[in-house]
Amino acid sequence: MKILVIGSGGREHALVWKISQSPLVAKIYAAPGNPGISQLAECLPIPQTDITSLKTFALKEKIDLTLVGPEAPLCAGIVDEFQKEGLKIFGPTKSASELEASKAFTKELLKRSGIPTASYKIVSSFREGLEYLKKTDVPIVLKVDGLASGKGVFVCTQRSIAERHLSQIMKERIFGTAGDKVVIEEYLTGKEVSVLSLVDGKTIAVLEPVCDYKRLLDNDLGPNTGGMGSFSHVLFITPGIMEQIAREIFVPVVHAMNTLERPYQGVLYAGLILSPGGLKVLEFNVRFGDPETQPLMMRLKTDLVPLLLAVVEKNLDRIQPIEWSDEAAVCVVMTAKGYPSNPKIGDVIEITQEDQRTGNDIQIFHAGTRLDNGRLITAGGRVLGITAKGKDHSEARKKVYDTITEISFDGAFYRRDIANKL
Ligand code: AMP
Ligand code: GLY
Repeated sequence: MKILVIGSGGREHALVWKISQSPLVAKIYAAPGNPGISQLAECLPIPQTDITSLKTFALKEKIDLTLVGPEAPLCAGIVDEFQKEGLKIFGPTKSASELEASKAFTKELLKRSGIPTASYKIVSSFREGLEYLKKTDVPIVLKVDGLASGKGVFVCTQRSIAERHLSQIMKERIFGTAGDKVVIEEYLTGKEVSVLSLVDGKTIAVLEPVCDYKRLLDNDLGPNTGGMGSFSHVLFITPGIMEQIAREIFVPVVHAMNTLERPYQGVLYAGLILSPGGLKVLEFNVRFGDPETQPLMMRLKTDLVPLLLAVVEKNLDRIQPIEWSDEAAVCVVMTAKGYPSNPKIGDVIEITQEDQRTGNDIQIFHAGTRLDNGRLITAGGRVLGITAKGKDHSEARKKVYDTITEISFDGAFYRRDIANKL
């Protein structure tokens, strides 16, 4: 088979790495990919949102399956465009991607379907938001309705801070039309977990749970980021909780999407919190998580390609149970100086002894990297995701941090507390 993977992050490197182990695959292309991916796939100079060029390429090269990594092409309708040409593509249609593209749509769907989530109010103007804020307690959470690259959620400890964010979103319009509506949401506390499921429209295959570290600094301090690290398995998620997640969250959401005639096919990511009032949905994403995918791919024993095909061909019910390694996997993200607000790029990355160290148990997944005259340089906020597997979390963790000592670039930053408290 010929496979095309769209995207250029650590998530896509991990997916390409796993796909490259499949005996079904003869050739992998990535658009646009990155230097790490280029060791396993042919990288194409096509941006991830240039749907027309991607479609033309897939038709010309007779690509058997396209896998979309990021949300932007999904929400722009890449799946609908490929399907019109009879091309097989993994991911939800534009109308089903609304689960990530609009937080207001998702909150209304959750409420109607009786799926547990924080109580909320959707506001459509600054004045309406201000009125509502007067009546609420703090902390309170403000969420921009549309896509905001993970930067549209504000946990506000004071009303004045909430009012300032509301003004930036709805008066200054710093998020453009994505901020036409704002979800004002009850503040919840508790442990968070990401649970992803493969969905073919009717059958749901829930994947292993993963924990993601959203905050920049150790001990969960500092601003929210795309994710600074992750680990799987997750000891506080018992088999009973996993059954509850399937029954109370995935089954009703898939059913609700069918009722709305927006059948869901692809991977559905539920961001969950175990609050004192029970398990609640914080958000859905319509794609694999980054950096959740890195430890998941390290632990996945089953060939990924038949799983992806079963979703696209709507026969996930015929797939054997997915097999996972009993080992733990840990990913630590190395970021550029200034991340997340203003990452500095263009610094030379030195990696000593990469060949001796990395193998099936340790991988250096690339994200914001680029080759410049044969030298590896930083090219984005999240630069590398060092991921390792071990007999338990502490062994995996040690392998990751030992590998990090061999990587350097100016201003390199990473959290030191990933997977140290389970
Ligand atoms: P989201 O993109 O909706 O998952 O929000 C990003 C992060 O903001 C979450 O992972 C939480 O850490 C935090 N967050 C979101 N909603 C709430 C909430 N209702 N209460 C407390 N924290 C939240
Ligand atoms: N790690 C969070 C996300 O992928 O959205």
